[in-house]
Amino acid sequence: DKGNHRHFMEKEIHEQPEVIGHTLAHYLDFVGGKTKDIALPFDFAKLDRLYISACGTAYLAGSIAKYWFERYARLAVDIDIASEFRYREMPLSPNSAALFISQSGETADTLASLRYCRSAGVPIAAVVNVQESTIARESDAIFPTLAGPEIGVASTKAFTCQLSVLASLAIRAAVERGFVSPERERELVRELSETPRFASAALKLDRQIEKLARELAQVKHVLYLGRDTSFPLAMEGALKLKEISYIHAEGYAAGELKHGPIALIDESMPVIVIAPHDRIFDKTVSNMQEVAARGGKIILITDTEGARRATIDALETIILPTVPELIAPIVYAVPIQMLAYFTAVFMGTDVDQPRNLAKSVTVE
Ligand code: F6R
Repeated sequence: DKGNHRHFMEKEIHEQPEVIGHTLAHYLDFVGGKTKDIALPFDFAKLDRLYISACGTAYLAGSIAKYWFERYARLAVDIDIASEFRYREMPLSPNSAALFISQSGETADTLASLRYCRSAGVPIAAVVNVQESTIARESDAIFPTLAGPEIGVASTKAFTCQLSVLASLAIRAAVERGFVSPERERELVRELSETPRFASAALKLDRQIEKLARELAQVKHVLYLGRDTSFPLAMEGALKLKEISYIHAEGYAAGELKHGPIALIDESMPVIVIAPHDRIFDKTVSNMQEVAARGGKIILITDTEGARRATIDALETIILPTVPELIAPIVYAVPIQMLAYFTAVFMGTDVDQPRNLAKSVTVE
């Protein structure tokens, strides 16, 4: 049932504050300001490596989680596309664990990667939305996302719930590995607890984003740029746009611009820059200047401070609330999803059932 929404995708985008809240509450004790004790098939304190593999949007959630595990828990992460990992014959460290991320829990390549790790004797955990799935059954532990059934083929609420689980796990790992004091843990848990409120605020930008989408629906190519956790989010923005609007889009690390993609820049290709005001914001501003100098049109998704500091022409800005660094990718996912959604609506595509795509990819 779509309720009063035109598409399941729109409904699922709007459910996010609620389902993110449910998911976080499963892993975090908001009142006590602590991560909950979770049963694990390995000891975070003894790991020297975590292997994450997944496909599509779930892979991009894992790519964001790499920054979190490495930054907060000082745990090195290898992130792989499952269809590559399964055939790569990678040597696995004896002090490692493997984490698989899958909404459906049935993705063939992700399952094959899991079985590769199983045969190597590595402990296995999975972040899944469907708890009675094959991947869930074959894992030693599951970390559920409590997103509820996701009907739209383009993943939205499952993605932000995956991020919510992964952020909670990264903080838990940081605690167990001794890199986070009880005070810092309390602060990070409080920051996470505010995600639903910020996601709701982001949803209120729908009218502005719909207007922008009307213009985006006229173009042939779009480039998304970001640094740090905004880099995988840029790839997620591009993936979402191409799969439902069929507009060609690419996501790049902003610092890679001058190593090739800058050759594409002209007036006809909008550049969407995802850049909360953080410690590397100024680096992203210089990339935007490079784009503007070549006549490129920029759509900047940032916060108040970022908008104040980015003094560049040809700029359209989407201003989100100022959020803690940890939760920025979860909050910034919302305008990215809405932009793809409204663009697809203007293009008149079948938003919930885009051509050539299936919700669950059970063949390789
Ligand atoms: C993108 C999308 C796909 C899936 C991918 C993995 O919007 O939905 O890229 O994320 O097929 O699917 P799961 O998570 O079910 O393993």
